[in-house]
Amino acid sequence: MKTNQSSRSFGSDNHASIHPQILQAIVDANHDHAPSYGTDPLSQDLQTEIVKIFGPRAEGFLVFNGTGANVTALKCLVKSYHSVIATEISHLQMDECGAPEAIIGCKILTVPHVNGKLNISDLERLVVRRGDQHSSQIGALSLTQPTELGTCYEISELKNIIAWARAQGLKIHIDGARFTGAAHFLKTSLADLSDDLGIDILSFGGTKNGLLFGELVIIFNEQLARDFRYIRKQCLQLPSKTRFMAAQFLTYFKNDLWREIAAHSHEMAQLLAQELKSQAGVEADFPVQSNAVFVTLPRTWIKTLKTQNFFYVWDEHTFQCRLMTSWDTRTDDVHGFVAKVVELQQQNTNGDGQ
Ligand SMILES: Cc1ncc(COP(=O)(O)O)c(C=O)c1O
Repeated sequence: MKTNQSSRSFGSDNHASIHPQILQAIVDANHDHAPSYGTDPLSQDLQTEIVKIFGPRAEGFLVFNGTGANVTALKCLVKSYHSVIATEISHLQMDECGAPEAIIGCKILTVPHVNGKLNISDLERLVVRRGDQHSSQIGALSLTQPTELGTCYEISELKNIIAWARAQGLKIHIDGARFTGAAHFLKTSLADLSDDLGIDILSFGGTKNGLLFGELVIIFNEQLARDFRYIRKQCLQLPSKTRFMAAQFLTYFKNDLWREIAAHSHEMAQLLAQELKSQAGVEADFPVQSNAVFVTLPRTWIKTLKTQNFFYVWDEHTFQCRLMTSWDTRTDDVHGFVAKVVELQQQNTNGDGQ
């Protein structure tokens, strides 16, 4: 189907193509036969690599998608009478079609956020009905890092929240669909941001970061890991030809390709944010700490700008928009978009805006 819309998108990092090194890894794995369901040599190499990167307690499980990673991870942590605390804008709450509730039977208990982050004073209010048989019992805390608004929790913020959650006996999950972005922004290792903080489970994203598809559930607790293999199968998230997923992650981890990918997409987001900041009519919304840039745009510009580079309107009432970069965003994409903004400003000044 032909459209006059550019195929260069700021809609999502899901819109990006596959990183060539990762595609090559699939091609290289494509020979002969190998055992399935994680018993192939590449999947076993991946487990060795996961221990090197995430620490000795880490065990990784391949799953098909981010929602599957989150739901299976949480199913490992809570029972149906539990609630999982997350922000009111978390992917779990807003964008997973009620999958946690449908599949685990648990309740998502939301808290407000500031720039995408939850804070302890709001968490405290959820503790009051502990032990009340009429109320779901808080069982786990799920944080998103980087947040849905592209901001990153600092290590010190995470330490405080996790200490609070532990004191309450809660299990801790991190939704890390773009986790490498946070490690790049905070200049830390992946272990610093996960095992070293004492979390239980991490949903570690691949698809949004240059893979064809595939995510890892990384578990830092032996008992939970033992249960997880059955939960994954029951939840339809056990892939068979795991060698093609393992090959992608091995390449993603090799020579820190993950850092290179995160660094490039962040650099492009910074460039976009910088160039848009000085434009009249454009309002910058949140600190840019990963690959998402949030700006509020004049309503009349949106249709034209979306034709230049597609993006999503995040809030239909305020016209706050999310522009997302990825491993393959080019400086030309940014400059082309900003040039269109300038053109629209001039039309406004000349009085011929729509
Ligand atoms: C923070 C976050 N978590 C989880 C997901 C779910 O990923 P998937 O669409 O692969 O189920 C997404 C997807 O956009 C996401 O942004």
